[in-house]
Amino acid sequence: MLDMSPRPGDLDQIETVSADELRELQLDRLRWSIRHAYDNVAHYRTSFDAAGVHPDDVKSLADLAKLPFTSKSDLRENYPFGMFAVPREEVVRVHASSGTTGRPTVVGYTAEDLDTWSKVVARSIRAAGGRRGHILHNAYGYGLFTGGLGAHAGAEKLGCTVVPVSGGMTERQVQLIRDFQPDIIMVTPSYMLSLIDEMERQGIDPRSTSLKVGIFGAEPWTNDMRAEMEQRLDIHAVDIYGLSEIIGPGVASECVETKDGLTVWEDHFYPEIVDPETLQPVPDGQEGELVFTSLTKQAMPIIRYRTRDLTRLLPPTARSMRRIEKITGRTDDMIILRGVNLFPTQIEEIILQVPALSPHFQCVLSRRDKLDELTVRVEHRSGCTSADANDASAALKRLVKNKIGVSVNIEVVVPDAVERSAGKMRRIVDQRPIR
Ligand code: DLL
Repeated sequence: MLDMSPRPGDLDQIETVSADELRELQLDRLRWSIRHAYDNVAHYRTSFDAAGVHPDDVKSLADLAKLPFTSKSDLRENYPFGMFAVPREEVVRVHASSGTTGRPTVVGYTAEDLDTWSKVVARSIRAAGGRRGHILHNAYGYGLFTGGLGAHAGAEKLGCTVVPVSGGMTERQVQLIRDFQPDIIMVTPSYMLSLIDEMERQGIDPRSTSLKVGIFGAEPWTNDMRAEMEQRLDIHAVDIYGLSEIIGPGVASECVETKDGLTVWEDHFYPEIVDPETLQPVPDGQEGELVFTSLTKQAMPIIRYRTRDLTRLLPPTARSMRRIEKITGRTDDMIILRGVNLFPTQIEEIILQVPALSPHFQCVLSRRDKLDELTVRVEHRSGCTSADANDASAALKRLVKNKIGVSVNIEVVVPDAVERSAGKMRRIVDQRPIR
């Protein structure tokens, strides 16, 4: 793999400032953002008033903890444009989540917000090793989802040649990678696996492509998956995180020279970790739920948004800003099986320790005799005999029992039997009857 580390002069000045300067900037911006939200969004005025707090009460970064949280249901209740803090005419773009249950959530951007967004995505791509002049294959979905357009604008801002492929048309994606010789690919990690399979189907050695870097995000993936992709593709695999409510992709991103978690672009998004039960902030280093406050967003300032993502805050390394550890999962994706909590990422880690198994898997929840059961459906790798598959099944069952402490059913299936997605993969299939 090539050395893609930044050279002197490559970084923005803010990426190397002192902690004191950063905190000072954050406090100024935080006070502006809270005031802006309170003055212009009825929801914030009502919720602050109900909690008996006022923007003037925030005199330090720690005072942020006095303010109430914002959650997805607040966005739903204010559907579609009730969370906007500027006249609708100043909103030049909206995005929305799919809203599998009920109303979708809508987010809006002013022209300046779009500029901020493209800058943090450009910074993220550069952190991954991307530079002006690189060809970037963008397979995140374009449309209401923030992945495609967010990655696109950031790549253009950095000066890359963007190939705006979006998700799907897997065969064609592989052809375009062969013909256009991109340096970088941006895509969900699960769809990257489908692209690797398609390369192999077409007789292309995935290690022989022009790709040097993959910037993977929008869903949880593990360090074992990183090792798998780096080995199979001969690339650097780095993580990018974000969510539409905060801005989209580019809230935090990994630096290729360290690959040690994702640097939070703290000059725009202020992170906290709270205990998911007590909702009290916990010190850096302790695991909990990630909460973000936007510091510069105009159209839709967001105060203490509960992401539901679980991680911890780590001290700065490659940049002046703090990092988050790779996300373990969302609180909503936690499976509770006979009293044991587990996440699909833990299953992924274990699957990747069994050589005959591929990382295409789903966790199927069902109920028998009033008890929940988990079946891990996982594909074996091509070229496996049925004896290999049986051994792999037994090995996986044993490893899950030893490492997580709970018995699960294993169903090893042939390659291509697990459903595929061109975007975010559905890891949990819940077949339990609705109570
Ligand atoms: O997924 C934005 C994005 C697009 C991020 C492309 C990275 C790349 P939403 O659709 O609003 O936005 O989903 C946000 O996805 O709360 C996490 O649960 C999950 N997620 C996003 N990035 C990561 C990641 C986009 N790197 C939700 N690791 C978030 C783990 C992630 N989970």
